[in-house]
Amino acid sequence: MKVKINNFEMAYAEAGSGTPLLFIHGFPLSKAIWLPQLEALNTSFQIITPDLRGHGDSESVPGPYSMQMLAGDLNALLDNLGINQPVVICGHSMGGYLTFEFFRQYPQRVAGIILTATRAADDPPEGKTNRDNAAQNVMQDGITPIVEGMLPKIVSPASFDKNPELVESVKAIMMGASVEGTVGALMAMKERPDSTPTLEEIKVPSLVIHGRGDQIIPLAEAEQMAGSIQDCEFVIFDNAGHLPSLEDPQLFNNVVRDFMQQL
Ligand code: MLT
Repeated sequence: MKVKINNFEMAYAEAGSGTPLLFIHGFPLSKAIWLPQLEALNTSFQIITPDLRGHGDSESVPGPYSMQMLAGDLNALLDNLGINQPVVICGHSMGGYLTFEFFRQYPQRVAGIILTATRAADDPPEGKTNRDNAAQNVMQDGITPIVEGMLPKIVSPASFDKNPELVESVKAIMMGASVEGTVGALMAMKERPDSTPTLEEIKVPSLVIHGRGDQIIPLAEAEQMAGSIQDCEFVIFDNAGHLPSLEDPQLFNNVVRDFMQQL
């Protein structure tokens, strides 16, 4: 499905009814990482999985993007869908950075927060330089090199060795991002604020899911983040790296379902 918001066409999938559960993908991924959740959880909840601008099937628009702008896109999508009741928002990695921004801007829209494979801190200076270099490379050579570089790190070493089909499908998902979208998202991540002070503001029910084999965001960082949020549930996935929703979808769905039932 597509909807025109904020001067671009945003693609999204939507299914089911009940408490709305908004899933936000990471970089440079798409709503496809939430397919197992869309299919299994729509029997109990209203699942909404957008593609961020420049990613997946959403229209590609020139950057730079910012977390504020992307949060505004999510807000406009919810308005467009006529969803007035607060939603549970689940953010993966960059989608987690965006979840914090959405919570800061639209706290009244948030009934619960799920953070997976993400962190609260902003980029250190060398991280910002790396974002600039990556953007430069993408503009020069397209997105294939960055995708090839990320691929061995985006799942756990075990998933990478044992599940070539998963690796191929993740590659195809990442290749769906446009040059503009990739560069725009890199700049949004580079400029994102430190969300550490936001953690103590979170008073809604919260859940952190992190893969033990995450090679992009260390487990210790997620543990610290979860420990800084009041009454946050923290679940470690032994058989996942940076993509718990795809590497262990059944466990992911069970954990999310249990969390939702407590709301
Ligand atoms: C992501 O998975 O969204 C990104 O790798 C996160 C990042 O680069 O900080």
